[in-house]
Formats: sequence, structure tokens, C-alpha cells
Amino acid sequence: MENPINPYESDELLQQYLVFHYANGPEQFPYPFGGADALDFPKRCVVDGLALEQLPADARALDLGCAVGRSSFELARYCREVVGIDYSQAFIDGARRLAADGRHPAARLDEGSATTELAVSVAKEIDRSRVTFEQGDAQDLRGDIGQFDCIIACNLICRLPEPMRLLCRLPELLKPGGQLFITTPFSWLEAYTPTENWLGDGAQDSFAGLRTALEPSFLLDARWDMPFLIREHARKFQYSIAQASRWVRVPGA
Ligand SMILES: C[S@@+](CC[C@H](N)C(=O)[O-])C[C@H]1O[C@@H](n2cnc3c(N)ncnc32)[C@H](O)[C@@H]1O
Repeated sequence: MENPINPYESDELLQQYLVFHYANGPEQFPYPFGGADALDFPKRCVVDGLALEQLPADARALDLGCAVGRSSFELARYCREVVGIDYSQAFIDGARRLAADGRHPAARLDEGSATTELAVSVAKEIDRSRVTFEQGDAQDLRGDIGQFDCIIACNLICRLPEPMRLLCRLPELLKPGGQLFITTPFSWLEAYTPTENWLGDGAQDSFAGLRTALEPSFLLDARWDMPFLIREHARKFQYSIAQASRWVRVPGA
């Protein structure tokens, strides 16, 4: 049953995220101008976000706010075990179906009530058995989740009521030398996060707030801008620019 309070439980956003994560370029954005540089965001979060060559052969990865799981599957190309966690039961059900069957139907919205039925899928060469998906709260992760070689949290922190609860927990979740990759457009909304919890002194400078929360346990390795495109319908797209940053867990700090 749909949860009217959490939009991420709605069928509308489930279909939108299945398309966002898995549909190919022309299926999402069938135009010869603009936009295409912002496609494939969940894959770019893995291949650009992490220094993949530095991961150990038996790496464990955590994808927080994994939605319908594309980044988790991409992580499985490089990591022996991947845990994807999302608060939305509808998204986790979709991700689990993709793990089990390798495919999922997706209704792409074209206009008004017109949709195109797609069958989105996980690339055949990915070992889906490496990935498990759990419904859970990134602010209150289970105590026995263990430690990871890399953690990604993409476009999650400005959807949390209390981002600091997650940020304070991160040092114990990452192994020394482990990598943390965070993206966020800092789209603060009171519907998700009370203003007093916006990072950076009421979001005067959100990245400064993120930095204060992570240092000295983490060292900033790189920081850049990452565009992403979410299709609403054939003639309406959300073009956003996330702030991306990669951090390394400082041993002993
Ligand atoms: C903007 S989406 C980003 C999803 C995905 N990482 C991506 O980049 O496409 C935010 C995601 O965070 C999830 N989320 C919101 N609150 C959460 C929480 N407390 N714990 C875990 N996930 C949460 C939502 O269900 C949604 O899937």
C-alpha cells in the first residue's frame, strides 16, 4: 500500500527512478541537444566517484539511499559484497526484484496519461548475487552491519531529517583508508529536514558544514560538480548539479 507521507513510496516515483537508473540514453532523453551529459548518474557515482583501483579484491561496499539499486549493481563489478539500504520499501522491493530476475517493468511517462512500457534490466555481466538490499534508515543503521571499504551516499543527505546522525556514524562504518563518496545538490526542504538541521549554519555554506562534520576523521580527496537528469515526462526534465566529494578515512582519527 502506498504511504501518502513519503513520496518515495509512490508508484510515480518508483517508475521515475526505474527509468532514471536503468533506461538507456535515448529512452530517457531523445533529443540531440543539451541534457545528455547528465545521463547515467548512478553509474558515474561509482566509476567517477571512487578510486576503484585502490579497492581490495574482497571489498565490501555500502550504498546508502540506494533507491532502486543501480549504483549497488555497478559496485558489484568491483566489490565482492554490496549492501544497498533505502528507507522506501517500494524502492527496495523493486531493487530486490532486479536482483532476483535481472529485469523489471517500468512505465515511462511520455505525456498526460500516455506511457511507454519498458523492461529495464541489470547488465548481464554483473554478478547480482553479490548484492543484498535492505529497507532501513541511514540515520539508524543496524548495529551489526560491520565495516566497509567504501561507502556511497548519493543525493541522500538533504532528504534526511537529521543528517548529522548519519555523518557522525560514518567514521565507525569505514575501514581505515576506506573511501566515502557523497553527492548532494543541497536541495534543502523543510518537508524533509527541519531548518535547524540544514548543514552549514542554516545552509549559508552547506559544504562547509559537511566538511566540519567529516573532518578530522576524513580527509577530502577530491571535490567536483556532477550533473544529473531526471525525466518527468517527454518534455520536462529536472537538470540538477550535485556537489560531489570523495573522502578517505584517516586511520586512528
Ligand atoms: C534523491 S533520492 C537518491 C537515490 C539514489 N541514491 C540516486 O542517486 O538516484 C533519495 C533516496 O534516499 C532515500 N531515503 C530517504 N530517507 C532515507 C533514510 N532515512 N534512510 C535511507 N534512505 C533514505 C529515499 O527513499 C530515496 O531513495
